[in-house]
Amino acid sequence: MTDLNEQARAILRANDRGGYTVPNARVYPFQWNWDSAFVALGFQTFEESRAWDELDWLFKGQWADGLVPHIVFHKPADGYYPGPGVWGTHHVPPTSGITQPPVAASAAWRMLCDAKDKPAAQGGAKVLFPKLMAWHRWWHETRDPGQTGLVTIVHPWETGRDNLPDWDAPLAAVTPTLNVSALRKDIAHVDPSERPTHDFYNRVMTLVEEAKALHWNGPEVAQKLSFRVCDLGIQCILMRADRDLRQMALHLGASAEVTEIDSWITRSGAAFAKLKATDGSFRSLDHRTGALSPAVTSATFLPLYAAVVTPAQAAALAALFETWMTHATFSVPSTDPTYPGFDPKCYWRGPVWLVMNLMIAEGFADYGFDAIAARIRSDSAALIRKSGFSEYFDPNGGEGLGGREFSWTAAIWLYWQLGRIDSPAA
Ligand code: DGY
Repeated sequence: MTDLNEQARAILRANDRGGYTVPNARVYPFQWNWDSAFVALGFQTFEESRAWDELDWLFKGQWADGLVPHIVFHKPADGYYPGPGVWGTHHVPPTSGITQPPVAASAAWRMLCDAKDKPAAQGGAKVLFPKLMAWHRWWHETRDPGQTGLVTIVHPWETGRDNLPDWDAPLAAVTPTLNVSALRKDIAHVDPSERPTHDFYNRVMTLVEEAKALHWNGPEVAQKLSFRVCDLGIQCILMRADRDLRQMALHLGASAEVTEIDSWITRSGAAFAKLKATDGSFRSLDHRTGALSPAVTSATFLPLYAAVVTPAQAAALAALFETWMTHATFSVPSTDPTYPGFDPKCYWRGPVWLVMNLMIAEGFADYGFDAIAARIRSDSAALIRKSGFSEYFDPNGGEGLGGREFSWTAAIWLYWQLGRIDSPAA
């Protein structure tokens, strides 16, 4: 145990680039948005000030309109496509032009609640709070121009769950205008069978070209790109983060902001039922066609984390979890293990990701399903003991997949061993 704690800390230190952490030195050699929020929780267990630095560095990439990019290219590095030159965002520091799941407010609220050095944490929270507000406002305004309560994502990479079956139909409607297969670098680092296809890359890079043609204008991108979806994952993560941001606002005495956040929470809560399928599971919604995604993914459990389901719906999700686990050894597969397209080794088509496990376990615990939460935590620890701090894991054999020495896997190990296993007080 101690040895693994030390290994996890060593991974974070080795991937530290002086204020921010790369997810993995070879596959992802820059700062990634939601990775850094989880990484901050890992640092929080042994170097609190470094945890706040991680978020400060992420927000150095924030745009004037509030967007927090999915990659911040603080320093040049080889080995990644699409690098800073491809995005054409003209931002300083260079950034991508899309975002990622808004976990940062939830991470910051935890860091504030758990801090041993309260004055320092209070200082960190005060600096970060207006930036978090600006980002959440961007989600609720720029990415929900009709004020529907359901936000829009314009690129599969925004979801962080890049390769889900959910994106197959919306991406099929994108006509690829370029062939980037020779430019890819990910498949030089990772077995190609564990990564997305060339066709996927051609389509997602076409979306980048579409946004470049709109000069990355936020409202136009949100309304004109040929991929516009409400991702169940982001919707739930945002709803949870709004509640955590509200707690932070109350703590900091920011009453006008509390009122503003309340309006977001009310709107999202009222709209959420639109993501419920007839079988009771929750799905992503294609804004262009009005269709719910055909597959059930592990995000179906995140409405618990978002605290947006009734006790009866929570019990149904617990039953669904138990059914899934009759088809897999390790929880939680990223895609329903009975889905015909389930693939236990391919990126988001089946493998277990510990970031999802953390949020799913918390959601179950929040609704009183402590045994499920404990199972998810112990399966996660078993995967690390068996296969190290991998990017993701086969839910059947437990093999490590994708990048190795992965920062967020190390961070979640530390958070669960040395930090908290429950949600901060609401
Ligand atoms: C990648 O390059 O695969 C990333 O997931 C995009 O953020």
